[in-house]
Amino acid sequence: MRKPRVGRMVLATCVGSFIIGIFYFQSNLKPGAEAGSGHAGWQGKSGRSPLQTLYDGDQLDLSAAQATHQGRRELLERACQAYTRKRRVLIPEDLKHLMVDDRHGLLYCYVPKVACTNWKRVLMVLTGDGRYADPLQIPANEAHVAGNLRTLSEYSTAEINHRLRTYLKFVFVREPFERLVSAYRNKFTRSYNTAFHKRYGTKIVRRHRANPRPEALERGDDVSFEEFVYYLVDPHTQREEPFNEHWERVHSLCHPCLIHYDVVGKYETLEQDSRYVLHLAGVEDQVRFPTSGKSTRTTGDMAAQFFHNISPFYQKKLYSLYRMDFLLFNYSTPAYLRFR
Ligand SMILES: *[C@@H]1O[C@H](CO)[C@@H](O)[C@H](O)[C@H]1NC(C)=O
Repeated sequence: MRKPRVGRMVLATCVGSFIIGIFYFQSNLKPGAEAGSGHAGWQGKSGRSPLQTLYDGDQLDLSAAQATHQGRRELLERACQAYTRKRRVLIPEDLKHLMVDDRHGLLYCYVPKVACTNWKRVLMVLTGDGRYADPLQIPANEAHVAGNLRTLSEYSTAEINHRLRTYLKFVFVREPFERLVSAYRNKFTRSYNTAFHKRYGTKIVRRHRANPRPEALERGDDVSFEEFVYYLVDPHTQREEPFNEHWERVHSLCHPCLIHYDVVGKYETLEQDSRYVLHLAGVEDQVRFPTSGKSTRTTGDMAAQFFHNISPFYQKKLYSLYRMDFLLFNYSTPAYLRFR
């Protein structure tokens, strides 16, 4: 296994935060043209890089998927122009969520609660030198061990720029409030998640519950969705520290207006979109994206129920907080919200 270059990463991050900007410019003119140059041949079956496969335009069989993804890219671009102000340069700190597959030329920005365990497993299979045959062989906790996959922030500025220009960059997103309810249910309503109860639950109970019982203050294991919402919209929360990645916005985790993602996959169409990425990488014969048999998915109906108890005032505040994720990824304002 390749060791993470910790020393270098720390250096790059510290120095980078202050002086190194990453000068990466998207050329809208056939980014695939450059891809693979100077590379001894990509590991996918066509020998082309995924980026070349995407933009070479001879994929007639994929025209429907191609049109969908082109539509999403254009919408994202327009939304970025309409709703974000100044562009800034990237710093290595911005790239901590981008996982690198140097063998196939892939960059994946992982978003918790959007099938990221399975995508990390797939990337471990792809970069694993045949160590794993099947993604599901990899235990979930193993998939999240830092250092199993390299992140783009670990590379030098020149290496980062090269990868941003020539690799296929993809991200998977999800309806923001369904993702949020999923994070709440997973982290605050399951008795085994004691680390989250201690770290966040106790704080939420202390700050956002009137007259809490001593056990609740001590354990933090009975946070209601309402209290979680108060915590999120309290300006004090983000002044103190960044949101935990499970409820941080995709906009802040993956910087979709600074990094031009080639594929924006959606949780709502996870199977098709995953198949499309694996096809572009030329590895659909090597690895299959695990289809989760999970019945515990958070649906729109479920999100509506959770929001029922939230007053229009707080619904509105919460919507403002997640607004960019709604706009950038073409999710409409949920019909169950009552402030409209
Ligand atoms: C945006 O969402 C609407 C409504 O769901 C859909 O009809 C449209 O095709 C989407 N646009 C893109 C570019 O994905």
